[in-house]
Amino acid sequence: MKPDTVVEEIKSKIDIVNLIAEHVDLKRSGQNYKGLCPFHSEKTPSFMVNPSKQIFHCFGCGKGGDAFSFIMEYEGMSFPEAIACLAGKAGIRIEDYRRESKAGRSLREDLYAINKEALAFFRSNLPLSRQTAAYLKERGLTDEIIGTFSLGCGRQERNALFTRLVSQQFPPERIKASGLVYFGEQEPFDFFRDRLMFPLLDLQERVIAFGGRIMAPSKSSPKYLNSPESAIFRKGEACYGLHRAKSAISRKGYSLVVEGYMDTLLCHQYGFDNAVAPLGTALTAGHLKKLRRFSDKLLLVFDGDAAGVSATKRAIELVYAEGMAAKVLLLPQGEDPDSFLRKYGPEQFRKGMGNALSPVEFLLKSSGRNRIDGVRALLHFLSPCPDPLMRDEALRELADRSGIQEMTLREEFKNIHRRPSRQGRPSAEGASGMRMGGESAGTAALSREERMLLLALLSSPERAVPVLESSPLVNRGSGLVQGIFEKIKTAFISGAADGRSTERLLALCDEEEKRLVTQLSVSPEIDEENVEVVIEECLRNITVKDLEKQIRSAGEAGDVERLQSLLLQKKGKLSKSSGSLSRQGFTDHERRGS
Ligand code: GTP
Ligand code: MN
Repeated sequence: MKPDTVVEEIKSKIDIVNLIAEHVDLKRSGQNYKGLCPFHSEKTPSFMVNPSKQIFHCFGCGKGGDAFSFIMEYEGMSFPEAIACLAGKAGIRIEDYRRESKAGRSLREDLYAINKEALAFFRSNLPLSRQTAAYLKERGLTDEIIGTFSLGCGRQERNALFTRLVSQQFPPERIKASGLVYFGEQEPFDFFRDRLMFPLLDLQERVIAFGGRIMAPSKSSPKYLNSPESAIFRKGEACYGLHRAKSAISRKGYSLVVEGYMDTLLCHQYGFDNAVAPLGTALTAGHLKKLRRFSDKLLLVFDGDAAGVSATKRAIELVYAEGMAAKVLLLPQGEDPDSFLRKYGPEQFRKGMGNALSPVEFLLKSSGRNRIDGVRALLHFLSPCPDPLMRDEALRELADRSGIQEMTLREEFKNIHRRPSRQGRPSAEGASGMRMGGESAGTAALSREERMLLLALLSSPERAVPVLESSPLVNRGSGLVQGIFEKIKTAFISGAADGRSTERLLALCDEEEKRLVTQLSVSPEIDEENVEVVIEECLRNITVKDLEKQIRSAGEAGDVERLQSLLLQKKGKLSKSSGSLSRQGFTDHERRGS
């Protein structure tokens, strides 16, 4: 058994909130759930569970960690026992991982290898098919895009891929498990034949599935086929193009979500390199969770027809429930990003993005004369939103745009909001109460700047680390901050962004660091849009404070020369302050990015 793959699989199936809720009575509190700590005795809750980071922390006793740490601590189990216990809960058969193929590889390893071989096969077919070449040309794809996205094509023969896989010694049951070959009554035949092939890569650039577009339109077979789900592929969370788009998403500060394979490719081709698409399914919470690792903002691009409008509504509902932010761009009827870009060009597309609608605008606009329906829809969608600031902002915008009194809206919202019982009542007390309790265990020693630096590092390491590293300022705060900073670099940046980075980080930390990391991970998040600005300000403040200390001691020592030079340095630092914490729109990011 490879513990790594099982742990990964378990983590993707187990929600820490549900797990802990079996033992502790949890109530929603801001971004976290809160309850009485099971590890020490207390009367007021200081035990927090953060669903987006899948982590817990107790502000009373300082214990914290992930689902595995919780079970180990709670049940007094060893790590292997915790794996067995959680695998059982997740419905994962550990035997599946134990059963190894001839070459001694696990099922998942074989599936990666089979898909990799299939990719080589599909790619090698491309130069041989004149029909596909003509098709790609007609669709306006450049050779560069065809290459970077590793497009390929299937053959017409019944089982050319199957034959190749067998010749590579892959056991038939593993080939079957990949879904690339269909084992019918008679002989096996290839699932993708005579189709344009789009490989789907995970964040570590391993091929996990394929989509195939039919070349010769036919009534009897669907336009697109996707690999069936397997041990390495879950449809509800795979985002096409994300392996290419992830850094652009972090840099530009949002994901550009389109509907199809071709849309994704054309967007990338025209420089909109933060584009991704779900795979032949509607957007799900699983997709959003994937995307939020890189940014919690989205620009949703849909066709302006009725289907597009209802898909947009569903998407807004999900986005709010995840506490993420979205804008909506509806294209003219009958256009998708692919056709729009080729017809009108990237400048028009960019212009459309600049005019993208907020969810409030969209819902009011799309309900037409039945404004009240739009208002009500928004109140319902907003109800599960875990972020009180977002709810507040949306309600205010709704009042502005609908002309309905804000008081009335808030009253109605409260009614709706109380109904779902599991959420508990949202209260302003959540976040602040926690922060007060928080100073007890360890962070008291941290300055406000250090705390912010760490929050920035933990919430967007991809963006925070480069800023910190490239900063000409030497002082980055205390040894504790510096130590965690180095470990984040190891765990988040050099490691692959596979959702286990927090786990890796915790494994590197000593007890004091661990306490701080879990504690800050359940703290209210900083405004991720402004991570860079926040860091720069923190660094400057730390330096200024440091200078002030030196100025004081130079003054006391009567060292006039040193005093003057220090005062000059301080003046220099202060004049560089930009102080612009203003929110930036999507278009600004886009322009900066491309
Ligand atoms: P082109 O016709 O090649 O431009 O594709 P498109 O992406 O514009 O097609 P469409 O808008 O019809 O579909 C959008 C996305 O839905 C596609 O990229 C596929 O992921 C998915 N899709 C479309 N048709 C099918 C189908 O018949 N089966 C499945 N499983 N998915 C489909
Ligand atoms: Mn299309």
